[in-house]
Amino acid sequence: MTTVYLNGEYLPLEEAKIPVEDRGFLFSDGIYEVVRFYGERPFRLEAHIQRFVHSAEGMRLPLLHTVEDLPAIIERLRQENGLRDAEVYIQYTRGHAHPRTHAFPPEVCPTLLVMPLHMHLPPASAYEEGMPAITVPDLRWQRCDIKSTMLVPNLLAKQQARERSAWEAILVRDGLVTEGASTNMFAVINGQVVTHPADCHILGGISRDTALGLAEKLGLIVRQEAFTVQEMLNADEVFLTSTTQEVLPLTRINDRPIGRGQPGPVTLRLHAAFRRLVLTES
Ligand code: PDD
Repeated sequence: MTTVYLNGEYLPLEEAKIPVEDRGFLFSDGIYEVVRFYGERPFRLEAHIQRFVHSAEGMRLPLLHTVEDLPAIIERLRQENGLRDAEVYIQYTRGHAHPRTHAFPPEVCPTLLVMPLHMHLPPASAYEEGMPAITVPDLRWQRCDIKSTMLVPNLLAKQQARERSAWEAILVRDGLVTEGASTNMFAVINGQVVTHPADCHILGGISRDTALGLAEKLGLIVRQEAFTVQEMLNADEVFLTSTTQEVLPLTRINDRPIGRGQPGPVTLRLHAAFRRLVLTES
């Protein structure tokens, strides 16, 4: 039985229900986070909480005691569910309000849900051989730095990738690569590690920050600058980062090989460093 947290209660998953007038359901008026446990320890929980606060501020969602309460809620769920090497999903909405109106209700009673997630890890071969990706137009709004539950453009992009047997959809805005449908995107260009700046066009990934810190420690030159699709296709290496996938090589994009069509040395070094880091932090 999976235990989840919903608005002050610890419940079996099947019993956790929200009213149909919850604005998260009606308007996607909510934010979320996905935190990964290595062993029994959450990785970079403080960074996830900081991003949660940033998202709440961007959505003008009052946080009440949520930030103070979250670490204890997550720890209790870990214990009750015996979580190890798992993920926890946090969703926070503007709560239910009657009648349905676009403007915020005068009194907000937010909904907080925290629940274990089944983690879909990439196969080991993904790291050894690399994965294919496609490029698609980035149809999202101008506040991609907010981790909003309004993910339809991301879902459409990911579905297109699946239908073209690709692992990830790379989002392109005005000819520039922003990020992946659920990942951040990096290219190795002339030996330098390049990724889109953490502005309103991407989600500032926790794994992105981790990878950037590691790249600097490894003595690599890092540039937070947008690159074009053509620069990416001509890059020595392309890789993505995310909580679930860590640092994962992309070796074919739009059916064209990247570099030699194999994971490159920078990607492999960064992933090895990432794995060492999570071992020491957990
Ligand atoms: N996705 N960009 C987007 C659009 C994302 O949705 C995510 C995370 C990332 C990577 O962020 P991080 O390194 O903090 O995981 C980048 C989560 C995991 C999801 O939606 O399930």
